[in-house]
Amino acid sequence: MADRVPSGPEGVPFLGSSLQYADDPLRFMERVADEYGDVARIDVYNQEVYQVIDPGAIRRVLVTNATNYKKPSLGGDEGLGGLLGDGLLTSNGEHWQRQRKVMQPSFYGDKLNEYADIIVGDSVELADSWHDGKHIDIHREMSELTLRIVVESLLGARIDGMERTIRKALLEVGERFRPGPQGFVPEEVPTPRNVRYRRSVEILDRILREIGRQHDVHGTEDDLLGTLLGERAEGRLDEESIRNEMMTMLLAGHDTTALTLTYAWYLLSKHPEAERKFHQELDSVVEGSPTVADLGELDYLEKVVMETMRLYPPAYVIYRQAVETDELAGYHIPAETVVSTPQWVVHRDERFFDDPEAFRPERWTPESRRELPEFAYFPFGGGPRKCIGDGFAMREAKLVLATLGSKFAFELVSDTPLSLVPFVTIHPENPVEMTVCAR
Ligand code: HEM
Repeated sequence: MADRVPSGPEGVPFLGSSLQYADDPLRFMERVADEYGDVARIDVYNQEVYQVIDPGAIRRVLVTNATNYKKPSLGGDEGLGGLLGDGLLTSNGEHWQRQRKVMQPSFYGDKLNEYADIIVGDSVELADSWHDGKHIDIHREMSELTLRIVVESLLGARIDGMERTIRKALLEVGERFRPGPQGFVPEEVPTPRNVRYRRSVEILDRILREIGRQHDVHGTEDDLLGTLLGERAEGRLDEESIRNEMMTMLLAGHDTTALTLTYAWYLLSKHPEAERKFHQELDSVVEGSPTVADLGELDYLEKVVMETMRLYPPAYVIYRQAVETDELAGYHIPAETVVSTPQWVVHRDERFFDDPEAFRPERWTPESRRELPEFAYFPFGGGPRKCIGDGFAMREAKLVLATLGSKFAFELVSDTPLSLVPFVTIHPENPVEMTVCAR
């Protein structure tokens, strides 16, 4: 067993590197990787973390030795686990395993085809509400759209008129997870941020109950919520666990896809040549509204989505905690070490991607995909805890881009570069204002 101990920034007493991290978490992770290599030790917010950027070692953590790496409850009940409880994203062990099996069929095979009508229908409705020259915040529009889609397809309800309230509440909730020591002030302490957090969770819980009532009328037994309710009827799931899965779907099921779409529109508007190819392909394949069959021919569109998630992976880092001692890339990993595998850093590593900062959808040729080491690109994670919504998200992102891109182009209102803040996912700090241009 290796006894090499990874090195890392010294930091200062008590705080470690917390201040540098809080100042700019993404740059900090990059700097650590540049200076200390494949496995580095960092100390933030009283937590020692080993940052791992070697694809082989990441594969070991997520896939080949996955049983030795559980999901950590960073921040304990004050972390994401406090909000999502035993929902699929945050649970471990037997409960997770059973839930994953119960929920899996809603995300694969024919089910995905059924969602296409909802995705395209909601996108057309949105397009019909726009006109040439309209100013929009594309991030808000994409978030509200993906919320509508996920609630309608998986929870069997319509949230017309509630999108703004849900989004605002979800953003307030997200604020609590913005990096910084303030995030882990116990929930009971009435700081302004905590008060807003608790109020927002209450609003979301009210909305989940309303979605449940709507499902009684419009839902079916075999949509995701119907499946969960069936489990309850059989005594295998309680009310609280159903609430936790619904909250997980609301959060995990819309935010990441909305960000992918926002960054795709942003990058296309900044790269006219790529935007031209994107439109040209749509014009030659799509007649009227796009269909699932069209997706097979929309090769450039797929490359745009992949390249967007390379440069701006919405889930920018994955955390695990070692159960027992292990070895990663020749370094000793003591039991209980928290390990981070940052997509943000690996996706921008020039060992794997030429000119890594450039937006170049063309780079995703079949040959380059074959040659890329596994886990040099992993926007959806991997192994048993791989994103359950990966197929759903890819299909959704492509169908939304194809529907809206067939009708419109989007121009950034200002030249100010995007400023990003990593919450649970990487968000634009400010509204991303764009002008809708009819094509
Ligand atoms: C572009 C869009 C998306 C991205 C980039 C993304 C990314 C991820 C990643 C990286 C993980 C693994 C986290 C870990 O290993 O700790 C994950 C898990 C998960 N995602 Fe996604 N996701 C996306 C869309 C979706 C959608 C559309 C849904 C649901 C409708 C969803 C639901 C989930 C759930 C429930 C888990 C936990 C799975 C488990 O642990 O069994 N995601 N996602």
